[in-house]
Amino acid sequence: MKVTIFGIGYVGLVQAAALADVGHDVICVDVDSDKIARLNRGDIPIFEPGLTRLVQENHEAGRLHFTTDAARGVGHGRIQFIAVGTPPDEDGSADLKHVLAVAGTIAAHMDDAKIVVTKSTVPVGTADRVRAAIETVLAARGRSDLGFDVASNPEFLKEGSAVADFMKPDRIILGTDNDETEQLIRELYAPFSRNHDKIIIMDARSAEFTKYAANCMLATKISFMNEMANLAERLGADIEEVRRGIGSDPRIGYHFIYPGIGYGGSCFPKDVQALIHLAESTGFEPTVLKSVEARNKTQKTVLFDKVRKHFGDDLHGKTFALWGLAFKPNTNDMREAPSRAIMEALWAAGARVRAFDPEAMDECARLYSGRDDLALVDSPEAALDGADALIIATEWKQFHAPDFERIKSQLAAPVIFDGRNLYNPDTMQRYGIRYYGIGRADSGTGNSS
Ligand SMILES: NC(=O)c1ccc[n+]([C@@H]2O[C@H](COP(=O)([O-])OP(=O)(O)OC[C@H]3O[C@@H](n4cnc5c(N)ncnc54)[C@H](O)[C@@H]3O)[C@@H](O)[C@H]2O)c1
Repeated sequence: MKVTIFGIGYVGLVQAAALADVGHDVICVDVDSDKIARLNRGDIPIFEPGLTRLVQENHEAGRLHFTTDAARGVGHGRIQFIAVGTPPDEDGSADLKHVLAVAGTIAAHMDDAKIVVTKSTVPVGTADRVRAAIETVLAARGRSDLGFDVASNPEFLKEGSAVADFMKPDRIILGTDNDETEQLIRELYAPFSRNHDKIIIMDARSAEFTKYAANCMLATKISFMNEMANLAERLGADIEEVRRGIGSDPRIGYHFIYPGIGYGGSCFPKDVQALIHLAESTGFEPTVLKSVEARNKTQKTVLFDKVRKHFGDDLHGKTFALWGLAFKPNTNDMREAPSRAIMEALWAAGARVRAFDPEAMDECARLYSGRDDLALVDSPEAALDGADALIIATEWKQFHAPDFERIKSQLAAPVIFDGRNLYNPDTMQRYGIRYYGIGRADSGTGNSS
């Protein structure tokens, strides 16, 4: 089937490569000409496990094309996906300017019937706005005779395992009341729905809301657990024991109850904010969502507070080794990453940062170019030499079982601030390392607060 995807970011590129891999003929359109040029050279602009091979093979096989030529894209697919960004506007609402711009572009170039599908995460009612935007442009062209439909198909892939998630989705949500649209999208996704029927059909508004409700539920689990962690510290309990204790209840489950230094990334922070804004626009007070967001904001400073408590407010002359920059493992994405809040707080207090991340170094260099209080080094060990402490911000696999003797010998003083609870406080005590985790007693020192 011929498919066009507008917006070749984390979602659009993964979707495009996966659809091409099962045999569909996919054209990707983006306004970022550098990105398109890189993709046409086989250079993949994001890190996502399995993606490079998938893109290169399907590009070479002639099933995956990249262009900035919107007219070519519109002419290609009967189905036109909109997968552009929906960043937060100044008031926290989702900014739909890219989505509506693509709707206008499709309407400006279409010469036959199209099915326009919103894949971006968009507020409830966006399908109606996309429909209206297309109708306006078609009317201005005098082509109101052209048939089109608009459907909602929110994406649930996770950065870090995006390819696997797309290939084996838990569910495919499709918001449509049009039988022909349903049948075509079913055909498109049939290769990803073989094991059992993954497709859940509903109206477009419910589909749009399902995406926000899912992300907000997950953000709620994280903020709840972080609140329990902060409380555990004050009550002399160990949140890791509590996590195992509550996770064993199948109604709660082990997923998404790891305490840490707050959620980041391009989705949870903006989607929680957008749903708060959407709720308020209806006159409804979303008290749970507001608390989830507030807890997350304060959680991002929890580890720095421990640093300040240990070293004092003035960190001039101190250097901190930082392991992990990406907002989570297996991605190079640093949008809203907790590492950024930590680095910025350290710099504001006068400290220097020496950082390592397996994939996000280029992104970090791009974000903080020209800073002389940041050094990016090419191994975890290189970050340690003579540093006053080690801070862990991302739970990459390679940080899980380091050589603690080496850490001890390389640091100026053996102190670890672990924002991901990777290590056992008893083990740290055995090695003689002062250890600060989240929601548990500091090693050998009693409670941290
Ligand atoms: N990143 C995720 O894990 C994830 C998961 C599920 C849903 N989503 C949602 O999917 C959407 C896209 O997210 P992303 O992370 O892929 O974004 P992204 O920022 O990585 O990519 C968006 C792309 O859209 C392009 N673009 C902007 N305007 C355009 C236009 N008029 N025409 C063509 N291209 C245009 C940009 O140049 C960019 O390459 C967002 O709504 C997001 O909330 C993201």
